[in-house]
Amino acid sequence: MKKNILITGTSTGVGFESAILFAEAGFQVYASMRNLKKADALKAKITEAALDIEILQLDVTDNASIEKAVNAIIAKDGKLDILLNNAGAGFAKTLEQASQAEIDWVTDVNYTGVVRTTKAVLPFMREARAGHVINVTSVGGLVGQPFNELYCGAKFAVEGFTEALATYVSAPFGIDFSIVEPGGIATAFMENAVAKTVNQNGEMATGDYAPIFQKYLEGAQSRASSGEASPYQTGKEVAEVILKVAQTENPPLRVRSSKWAEWMCNLKPQADPDGTQLVNQVKDHFL
Ligand SMILES: NC(=O)c1ccc[n+]([C@@H]2O[C@H](COP(=O)([O-])OP(=O)(O)OC[C@H]3O[C@@H](n4cnc5c(N)ncnc54)[C@H](OP(=O)(O)O)[C@@H]3O)[C@@H](O)[C@H]2O)c1
Repeated sequence: MKKNILITGTSTGVGFESAILFAEAGFQVYASMRNLKKADALKAKITEAALDIEILQLDVTDNASIEKAVNAIIAKDGKLDILLNNAGAGFAKTLEQASQAEIDWVTDVNYTGVVRTTKAVLPFMREARAGHVINVTSVGGLVGQPFNELYCGAKFAVEGFTEALATYVSAPFGIDFSIVEPGGIATAFMENAVAKTVNQNGEMATGDYAPIFQKYLEGAQSRASSGEASPYQTGKEVAEVILKVAQTENPPLRVRSSKWAEWMCNLKPQADPDGTQLVNQVKDHFL
């Protein structure tokens, strides 16, 4: 029987490319998206290349949709080998400008969504004594960046959540945990984030923050077009890193997906680049 994988957020970007890449690599892919009206591009690819991909509705903010999707996979295959928590959304706005609803939303999509899906699959993986949960965070999961305090906070949370699970769920139950940390990715992500950043007066940031925000944006725009030094990967390049992690025996806890991402985070993971030593130290100390 083929290895199977559930991927969240496959309407565009890294999730879309991962669905195709994993199917091409021989996996049975369950490509989920919150809005099935966005499935046309993936459906066209499935038909064109006869890919083994089934599209499911799943909104990471909605427990019922998660349970329905996971139960459908278990009913069909009797197992789930890999969960790829890819769904996420950018948000660059000063904390002072963000409404409570926006704060809750950023956290819900980027952090609690990962908690929900992981909680839904763990009983099946534990029972099977096998599984791999791969969470896509960001360099923003290791390094706080300007105007990204809410997004980075959520991605830091995913890092801590994953690291903690790796200390006591991995070894006894055969479940691996990995975190893929990309730098910038040339997807709709940035555009979507900027659209939310503008306030109702069309301003990016107001008052004291406006000149600092302007400088930040100009820097981001010039780096985006700076050729080799650019932090941007394509969604497919990031998907290739994810596939490699999925195909590695004893996969690393942490992987940066590009040289730029490695450089950006360099100071933090220097002593323990893939996070394994620290997890072992914690295990030795507590368990
Ligand atoms: N792009 C970057 O610069 C960058 C950098 C570092 C890390 N990342 C991370 O990489 C991952 C993939 O991002 P991307 O660049 O591929 O961005 P993207 O093209 O915007 O894709 C994000 C995906 O997440 C989905 N999504 C959003 N809210 C959801 C929800 N409530 N339930 C289910 N799916 C939801 C989106 O669906 P809709 O189409 O319905 O919105 C979309 O399919 C994210 O975790 C992101 O944080 C991105």
